[in-house]
Parts: sequence; structure tokens; C-alpha cells
Amino acid sequence: MKALVLSGGSGTRLRPLTHTSAKQLVPVANKPILFYVLEGIADAGVTDVGIVVGDTAEEIRAAVGDGSRFGISVTYIPQHQPLGLAHAVRTARAWLGEDDFVMYLGDNFLLGGISAQLEEFRIRRPAAQIMLTRVPNPSAFGVATLDDTGRVRVLEEKPEFPKSDLALVGVYFFTPVVHAAVDAIQPSARGELEITDAIQWLLDQNLPVTSSTVDGYWKDTGNATDMLEVNRSVLESLAPRCEGAVDDESELVGRVVIEKGAVIVRSRIVGPAVVGGGTRVEGSYIGPFTSVGEDCTIADSEIEYSIVLAGTAIDGVRRIEASMIGRQVRVTPAPRSPQAHRLILGDHSKVQIRS
Ligand code: TTP
Repeated sequence: MKALVLSGGSGTRLRPLTHTSAKQLVPVANKPILFYVLEGIADAGVTDVGIVVGDTAEEIRAAVGDGSRFGISVTYIPQHQPLGLAHAVRTARAWLGEDDFVMYLGDNFLLGGISAQLEEFRIRRPAAQIMLTRVPNPSAFGVATLDDTGRVRVLEEKPEFPKSDLALVGVYFFTPVVHAAVDAIQPSARGELEITDAIQWLLDQNLPVTSSTVDGYWKDTGNATDMLEVNRSVLESLAPRCEGAVDDESELVGRVVIEKGAVIVRSRIVGPAVVGGGTRVEGSYIGPFTSVGEDCTIADSEIEYSIVLAGTAIDGVRRIEASMIGRQVRVTPAPRSPQAHRLILGDHSKVQIRS
């Protein structure tokens, strides 16, 4: 049994954060999404892991290395262009050989791991086994229709008029017969080789495709709203810990993690929240569901329900909410007058300004 983790792609929905870095490395509670994925795979006992990489290959390699710290052995598989999930399987064909494998999208967050589903797959060994979850907006996902016995009948990619509310979670189990399927299909209207089309091809050949339902928390972290939501849910189960320096005038309330080397001065931090190592928080308020990365400065500011990446400084700003702030960013107040905004924004930035 092998695991194929998809960490290529273009990450357009998370721009501008993903202009300069891989979306799979955006941190949730100060740990990259991809690390949760690799831990889930290791927990299920799969150690032979191929990571499909694209333009951000170097960054992914630097973060994951040979995988030994997760207890797995990693092989990197370059995909020259993000031409679809089934194209990634084609690209990994030689590495996958004749092994069964679990394909896991590197930007999907799944609470509860994949051990139970993997066991089910090992016992039944269908051509493919998919994971489904009920969603309020199925048009945004791959959608499955089941028959009365619970077997998968039809799969559709982002249908305009969905026939069910069962969305495909980004974890799939395959036997090697899937290679015939990915070879047989043609690119979709959006120009990608869709994994849903490959699975539909298996169904059309009357090969068994089974499904299991995910009860736990699942999120495809495609956009900033989803990232903040996953961050909230992970922080909620945080075990409080203080390894940094907190002065007498500061107060930590609830589930708060202060990493080693962080300094908190005259500040109030209301959990759940995490402050990374090397970060200085002074004269500030950090509110619930906030992750502040390493080596940041938060001075004379207020922030909550936000993710701040490493090396960023926020000084004299009240108040920041529901925001994702990238690496090495400077956020400062504007002069009170004149009534004009001075902006220095990268391509595809999104700002909301009172006007
Ligand atoms: P998607 O979220 O479907 O695609 P994307 O990364 O291009 O993002 P966006 O829609 O915002 O532009 O990808 C799911 C996961 O699979 C993600 O981790 C990227 C990865 N992927 C590949 O490795 N190769 C591919 O060809 C594609 C399409 C995605």
C-alpha cells in the first residue's frame, strides 16, 4: 500500500498568499496543512509516500525533507503542469507500479484520520473507494449519487444541478485498475483530467466503487474563509501551554499556547490562540481563534479570528478581524488626515476599506 499526496496545483483561490508559497504549507494553528495530511497517512501505517509537486516543489521539499520526522519515506514526483488530479495519477504511474494506493489531496483537512477507511478498503478491495460527506453547497464539489444499496452510481464534477448533497472528500483508495481509467479519459471542459471522470469510467465498466461517509470534520482549504474556519476548529482542541516569557502585566485566558522564545508584555491573550516562537506581543489584545506565526511583532494592536504568518509586524492597528496576513508583511496605521488611502498591494490582493 502506497500513498500519493497531491501538492502541485496553482492555488489561484488563495492568491496572493500562494503567489510566493505553496497553499499546502499555509499553517493552521502554526502547522502546515500538509503536515496534518502526512501525519494522518503515517497513523494509518502507510510509510511509502509519493508527493506530487509543481512550481512550489522546492518549498515543499524544504519543509518535508525525506519524511523521516513523520516516520515515512518520501519520493517527490514532479508534475510539469497542474493538468488535473487524474493527470497527477498518470504522472506517478511508474512510481505507483502495481500497488494499491490512497490518494490524498495535500490541501484537505480531515479530522479523525483515514485508518478506519483504509481497513475497510483492505478487506473489500473494490476498484475504488471514495469518501463522502454531506455539504450545503454541493455545486462546489464532486458529487456522488448512490443507489438504494449504498453503491456509487454516478459521479459529477461541480454539477450545476446536483442530484445529491454528498460531496467527495479529497481522499481516494485505488487498486491498479485505476491506471486503465486515467488512460481512457479525455480532458474536461475546464481542460483538466478529472479523477471523477476516471472513477465514472470504472463505474461504466461495472467495476465495484464503494463509499464511506465521513462523520468528523472535513474541509477543502481552497480559500481564506475555509482556512480561518479550519484554524478555528483546530485551535478549539488546543492543549494550553506556556513556554515563552509572559510579564506580570499580561493575562492569558483559556486555551493559549505561547511557544518557546515568545515574549508577551502588557498584553491580553484570550484563547483559543497560539503565538509562535520568537514573536513579541506588546501592549496588545489577541482574541479567540488567532494563530500568530514565528518571529512576528504585534505592538499596540488588536487582532482576532485571524492567521498571521511568520516574520510579520503589526503596529498600532485596531482592530483586525477575520484576516489572513502573509509572511514578512508590515501593517501600520495611516495618518488620520488627509482622507485618502495609500496602498501598496501585490497582484490579486483583496482589501476592504471603509469609504
Ligand atoms: P485544487 O484545489 O483542485 O486545484 P488548485 O491547487 O489548482 O487550486 P485553485 O483551484 O485554487 O487554483 O487541487 C487540489 C489539490 O491537488 C491541491 O493540493 C493541489 C493538487 N493538485 C496537483 O497536485 N496537481 C494538479 O494537477 C491539480 C489540479 C491539483
